[in-house]
Amino acid sequence: MFTPAQESLFLTLGGRALDSRLPRPFLGDTMADEVLGKTGYDLGKFPGLSPKMSKVFDIAVRTKRLDEVVRRFVADHPDAVVLDLGAGLDTRIMRVDPPPTVGWYDIDFPEVVVVRQQVLPEQVSAHSLGADLTDPNWLHDVPTGRPTVIVGDGLVGFLPQEAFVALLNRLTGNFPSGELAFNHYTTYAVRAVKRMRSTAVIAGGVVNPGFNDPHEPEQWAARLRLVEEIFLTRAPEVAECSLLARLGIQSIGRSAALSRIIGTVVLRYSF
Ligand SMILES: C[S@@+](CC[C@H](N)C(=O)[O-])C[C@H]1O[C@@H](n2cnc3c(N)ncnc32)[C@H](O)[C@@H]1O
Repeated sequence: MFTPAQESLFLTLGGRALDSRLPRPFLGDTMADEVLGKTGYDLGKFPGLSPKMSKVFDIAVRTKRLDEVVRRFVADHPDAVVLDLGAGLDTRIMRVDPPPTVGWYDIDFPEVVVVRQQVLPEQVSAHSLGADLTDPNWLHDVPTGRPTVIVGDGLVGFLPQEAFVALLNRLTGNFPSGELAFNHYTTYAVRAVKRMRSTAVIAGGVVNPGFNDPHEPEQWAARLRLVEEIFLTRAPEVAECSLLARLGIQSIGRSAALSRIIGTVVLRYSF
């Protein structure tokens, strides 16, 4: 039995699975559909999650942007360590396909890692760490001294603020240099997830208050520097959306402030 925070992995897995069934998918992760099928999870628990919904675009394209951050980093640093925080049942390592010199770590709660081992294909060569990210001890199992890229896809909303700040400081204190990227949870986004019928099953797990200024994490962890704010409302993939969706997204995309509030944003920091 998963907690609401753990169950949220089915929203992102389901979003990618539905995307892969589109005639022209944004991400095209057919493995997500295979894994979802193995779990037997009923996506009806997220009413309204359908391939036509902008949520599927958001999930698929933000995952794609985070994949690109990791892909670029490991191309520049073949000795890199990759941390996928709150990996759920995602198989990012298969999409990125890093060289064997890269050390890849997928971290999620022990209950989730047990299911990962049951439903993910054996060729997933990442190390799976079963741990609560708010517990400092899991970092002892990760090599230090190598350039490190850290991603959190759909994670931050589930971390209490104090624990999030402590985690940022532990991460930036533990590795010599690297990048950190995650999707932005604004205060509006947090309120929306908590109130919408479509996300009611996971609402109880959303404990982070969100933040509106992407520079704020620089105050919380001194080594972090905001490098890029990636607005999905301005993604090239918008051109592939239906006419109606495209017009709506493009009109929001003209304003950075609106894109931040209503749209999905990926934040990339260096340290
Ligand atoms: C929305 S899901 C995203 C999963 C995956 N990144 C994806 O894109 O499919 C959020 C994930 O974060 C994990 N998570 C939340 N809080 C965590 C914590 N304190 N420690 C470890 N994992 C956590 C949940 O178990 C869940 O798998």
